[in-house]
Parts: sequence; structure tokens; C-alpha cells
Amino acid sequence: MNVHDKDESHSNDGAVPVRAGIEILSEQTSIGQRVILKGWIRSLRTSRAGIAFLHISDGSCLQPVQAIIDENVQNYSEILNLSTGTAVSVLGEVVESLGKGQDREIRADKVEIVGTIEKPESYPVAKKKHSFEYLRTVAHLRPRTNTFGAIARLRHNLAMAVHEFFSERGFVWVNTPIITGSDCEGAGDLFRVSALDLANFPGYDQDFFGRETFLSVSGQLNVEAFCLALSKVYTFGPTFRAENSNTARHLAEFWMIEPEIAFADLNDNADLAEDFLKSVLTKVVEKSADDLSFFQQRIDDQVMSRIDGVMNNSFIRMDYTDAIRELKNSKQSFEFPVEWGNDLQSEHEKYLTKIYNSPVIVMNYPESIKAFYMRLNDDQKTVAAMDVLVPGVGEIIGGSQREERFAVLDSRMDETVKEELWWYLALRQYGSVPHAGFGVGFERLLMYLTGMQNIRDVIPFPRTPSNASF
Ligand code: 4AD
Ligand code: MG
Repeated sequence: MNVHDKDESHSNDGAVPVRAGIEILSEQTSIGQRVILKGWIRSLRTSRAGIAFLHISDGSCLQPVQAIIDENVQNYSEILNLSTGTAVSVLGEVVESLGKGQDREIRADKVEIVGTIEKPESYPVAKKKHSFEYLRTVAHLRPRTNTFGAIARLRHNLAMAVHEFFSERGFVWVNTPIITGSDCEGAGDLFRVSALDLANFPGYDQDFFGRETFLSVSGQLNVEAFCLALSKVYTFGPTFRAENSNTARHLAEFWMIEPEIAFADLNDNADLAEDFLKSVLTKVVEKSADDLSFFQQRIDDQVMSRIDGVMNNSFIRMDYTDAIRELKNSKQSFEFPVEWGNDLQSEHEKYLTKIYNSPVIVMNYPESIKAFYMRLNDDQKTVAAMDVLVPGVGEIIGGSQREERFAVLDSRMDETVKEELWWYLALRQYGSVPHAGFGVGFERLLMYLTGMQNIRDVIPFPRTPSNASF
């Protein structure tokens, strides 16, 4: 019989529901229920008894679903030749599995081949272990691997946990602009945005916006305007930095979460950051237990103990000045000198989190190394800044209490900044209140959560110097 005969098509099985792999493996389907599963073959194994075992993943969970195919399945011999990556639709009955490794499987009646693999011998992610470096060169196919499937689901659950956290506490999500006219925040180098032919550039006044524009490095300055009206707000979106840092912790395009709270000081800000990290980790542990245990087993055996450490301990809070003293007193030799007035380097941050084995919030940094908008402390030497450092990754959050006093902010902005950000300064003349906020690097948080060592492997398509091909 022709395989394309109508009788062989699943269109006849309209009454049979299509189920996700995770539903088939869990109590969401019952034993004996007829189902259709659609997905991609992970592996194929045959036994001597004329039975083939197909492992099919539809990406709904880490574990593939096993389908048992025997010689009664019409295209049995064709199935035996299928290769990893082939897309199939399997119709069958959910049964208890006799084999190890799964409680349930599908006993197949029909297997429809939806999409074949053109050259199986050169399928770039054929079953075997690949290095993460290699997988970056096949970024269009790496979502099919266990690690990148798990990261995609974790990213999703983490993003949902972030929105739930803020929504439950009455924060409003504000979508700040991605194109900005301001190059003054000083958070890093900017990418230019233009609609013009750069080879024949007539000048910014002829450009789309009639001025020079950039991709935003942060939504903070804009979200402050909404904070001073809605009291509790946050942004969650992509940000862009053209800094040429070819490190395992920097991306040119990354996602940032930036809450901003009114009638609040630096301590309130640190409380919010601690509550935020504890709450989102708790939610993700609930929702992503299987994916997290994959990282624990395959990537980093400290994953769960690190998460427990954040959830169950109070974060250490220390002034920058004390952190410098601590570093100076350590017997450690650092590459970068430890001196009051210098910024903390990654090696210093890692040392601090290591000796306390806990997240550390460093507060009140020298004014000279931090941004103009941070509130000047009474000592006139430090500002109300804070960085949250976590073991293994270092800085994961940066924030501050903002300068709400017009005269002080005015004196801390130079003339060009004032010209650009006149509206930001003007907010201090109309019902100004103490307020504070911070920025969480979403990918840094994912690195921390998964133990992945390179930030390029926790974002679907990484953008880094000389790399934007996919
Ligand atoms: O410390 P940053 O530069 O802070 C700000 O942008 C403030 N405007 C935030 C605020 O107060 N609303 O960046 C915040 C966080 C860092 O702690 C880090 O986790 C992450 O963003 N980050 C990066 N992540 C990946 N790649 C990069 N190039 C990053 N630069 C910063
Ligand atoms: Mg920072």
C-alpha cells in the first residue's frame, strides 16, 4: 500500500488529541489513552525481537518520550532507517513502560515521517557530545540539544518569575525606549542608529530623527520619570553596549531588569534586591526542577547548593571601604591593585563572595568611579551605590539611590549632559522624592542559576565582538 494513502494519514485520527511530551510522561494523560506526539527523533534503537525504540523530543521537557514500534506498524522497515533529527508524528496508546528510564511510553500504531534529514552523515548535531564552542557555530540547531533546550525553558520560567514577582507586589512594567538620544549615562560605548547611507553621510540633521541616536544601554533614566508618578515600576528588555569586552560575562546585546522605587533609600533598594533574588530562585526551583537537576548533574554539581545558599541565608552587606580593608588584609595576591578609589575587579568580587560563601552587597562606593545620578552621601566622598556580587559570577546587580536634590544633581552634571538630559534634571524641580533602583543582568542571573561558564551559552543568539551571524 502507498504510504501516502489517505488511510495512513493522521488526518483520519482527528478525534485523537495531539499531546506534548511532558503531558504524556506525566499524569496529564491516562494509561490507555490514544494520543499523537509530534517531535524530532533523538535516537533509534532496535532489539532482536523485531521491536524498535524511538526517542522523540518535542522540547516540552528534558526527557524524550519513548515510542515502541513493532513490525505491525505499516512502515516499520522505513522507520528503522530514520536518522536523528527526523521530524515525526506518532499515533499510539499511552502505556506503562517496562523498561528503565521512564514510567510511561507510547505503543505506536502509526508513524508519519514529517521531515527527513537531508544528509544524515553531516547533520551538525547528530547524537554525540559536542563542545559549547562548536555548538555556537551551529546556533540554528543547538536548541535541539539537551543543554540548550533546558536553557530555553529555564529562561522562560525565569522571565515569568520576574514578572510575577513584580506584579504580585504592585509594580508596573514600563517599556522604555530602545532608541535613545542620550549618550550620557556612561554605562558603556554606544551603538549608533541611523537610516542613512553611511558612505554618503549628509549629517545627523538629515537623519531620521533629525539628530544623533543610539541603542539604549539602560532604561533607567526613562523609567525614573514613571517611578516619580507610579511609585513602583520596572523595565525588562534588551540593552546594548558596544564595549569591546571579549569576556565570558559580557554581551553586546543583553537583557536587563530594572526596578525603580519611590520614597525609598539605598537600604530599601538592597532589601528589594535580596527579596527579588530569593523569590525568583524559589519560583524557578519549583517550576524547573528537572532542567535544574540536569545542570546539577552535567554542568556544575554546585548548582543546587548555590541556589539553596541564596534562598536560605541573609546576604552580607558591607561598605566599599570595608571591602577594600578586607581585600587589603587578605593574604591573596591580586592582579589589579587594591586601593581605596579604585573600582573592584572581577577577581576582588570573586574573592569577597568566596570567603563569605554568600551573595555580598557592596555599598557606598567612591563618587569618582560611579555615575553622576547616584546620590552623594554626607561624607561628600562616596555615593549611595550598591553592587550585588554572587559566588562564581561576581557582579549580577548594579544599582543606587538616585540624586533627588536639584542643586546637587545640577552640580554633578556637566554642560553637555545637562543639555541632553535637561528633562531628567527638571524632574527634580517637580515633586522630587528620594528614590532608588537597580539593574539585574538577566543572562548573568542565568549563568548563576545553571553554572554555565560562558554568557554566550545562556542567550539564544549571542551578539559579541565580530559575531552577529545567526
Ligand atoms: O551595573 P550596570 O551598568 O547598571 C546600569 O545599567 C544601571 N542603569 C542599572 C540601574 O540602576 N537601573 O548594569 C546592570 C547589570 C550588571 O550588574 C550586570 O549584571 C549586567 O547588567 N551587565 C551585563 N550583562 C551582560 N553583558 C554586559 N555587557 C553587561 N553589562 C552589564
Ligand atoms: Mg555595574
